[in-house]
Amino acid sequence: MDKLLIEGGVPLQGEVFIDGAKNAALPALAAALLAEEREVLLENVPRVVDIRTMCSLLREMGASIEEEGTSIRVLPRDLTSQEAPYDLVRRMRASVLTLGPLLARYGYAKVSSPGGCAIGERPIDLHLAGLEAMGARIHLHGGYIEARSERLRGAEIYLDIPSVTATENLLMAATLADGRTVIENAAMEPEISDLAALLKGMGAKIEGEGTEKITVQGTTRLVGTSHRIIPDRIETATYAAAAAVSRGNVLIRGTDPEILSSVIRKMTAAGVGIRSEAEGLRISSGERLRGVDVTTAPYPGFPTDVQAQFMAMMALAEGASIIREMVFENRFMHVAELRRMGADIRTKGASAMIRGVSSLEAAPVMATDLRASACLVVAGLAARGETKIARIYHLDRGYSRLEEKLSRLGARVRRVGG
Ligand code: UD1
Repeated sequence: MDKLLIEGGVPLQGEVFIDGAKNAALPALAAALLAEEREVLLENVPRVVDIRTMCSLLREMGASIEEEGTSIRVLPRDLTSQEAPYDLVRRMRASVLTLGPLLARYGYAKVSSPGGCAIGERPIDLHLAGLEAMGARIHLHGGYIEARSERLRGAEIYLDIPSVTATENLLMAATLADGRTVIENAAMEPEISDLAALLKGMGAKIEGEGTEKITVQGTTRLVGTSHRIIPDRIETATYAAAAAVSRGNVLIRGTDPEILSSVIRKMTAAGVGIRSEAEGLRISSGERLRGVDVTTAPYPGFPTDVQAQFMAMMALAEGASIIREMVFENRFMHVAELRRMGADIRTKGASAMIRGVSSLEAAPVMATDLRASACLVVAGLAARGETKIARIYHLDRGYSRLEEKLSRLGARVRRVGG
């Protein structure tokens, strides 16, 4: 299995271009299943493993998909199967995003139950309760969720937690339902608004996306359109953290600072220089950073997907900081690895207390999930010596051309096999 070797201590300099958001492209691909005629053309799709997995899943169902660079065309064609098998769902939980579109368009879906993962239990009860409220009959057996319905009907749905993929699943299902669906306490993430923009382009009638109340007036058919995926705010934040810990000066291009304000606010408070320029976001940092407290929350709060990378910054900051993880129950797996690099971090329940140290030491480390791996890359860029990161298949799920992008910024990073 490949490993990443990072020789730390080089201040990153230059420009980096941000790809499209993985978490917007995944539901967009699932939404393409809703089109009855004309192709769906998605542009600015990141070339990451999760996207490949989603394409494999759709192909396995009989979809016709053409990929060219960062564009993906999904041709309208009736599927031959409405099943998301265990083998693919186990590799990527977001496979569950096919449930809503399949049920809405074909009246049947069989999706392997995703089960827990490294960062928590991650149930999908809200997805299922919402679909049931729309008239779906759901059976769980043999590790699979089997859902059936005649045409779904509009419903009033309140989400106990503003789950991102539950909101997306229900939004997609509602577009073809009979009548009006209201989703209250909906997730407000920019990726939801991006999905709504795509669905509207396909002919759906949606209001209120980006707020906590989304209203959908169901229609009988949707057609293909073209749509450009929004920039990846998590990739942006990861490069910003990397520039900051290395005390570099980096222009981040192709991003959108508007959807990153909670992160920008906290990074600024920590002493990172952040300036919006005509061509992108300039990140600079010369001084040692200051410790600041962070609490993760659904959008527009501080994203849980940036918590680990921010902790790597705080591990080197002057003073103490407290990071509270309020979205997932077990998302501190990176702490033990950071400690092996000399960080002073203690956790209790959902809180981590970080006392900044003046330097980190390189060490062999490994990660258990995507963003924990990104945290170790950030830490490795600042550490003294050569950090060896194992299990980088996690990184490949969500970051495209990571070592190429970092090398262009001057980082000494390489991938080795075995
Ligand atoms: C999405 C993102 C992921 C991000 C997360 C939170 C995608 C593909 N993934 O994941 O990168 O970390 O949002 O911003 O977009 N919950 C329930 N029942 C449910 C659904 C969720 O209890 O039916 C809980 C979860 O266990 C978790 C919380 O709600 O504690 C938020 O999870 P959710 O927003 O659903 O995350 P995902 O959509 O899986």
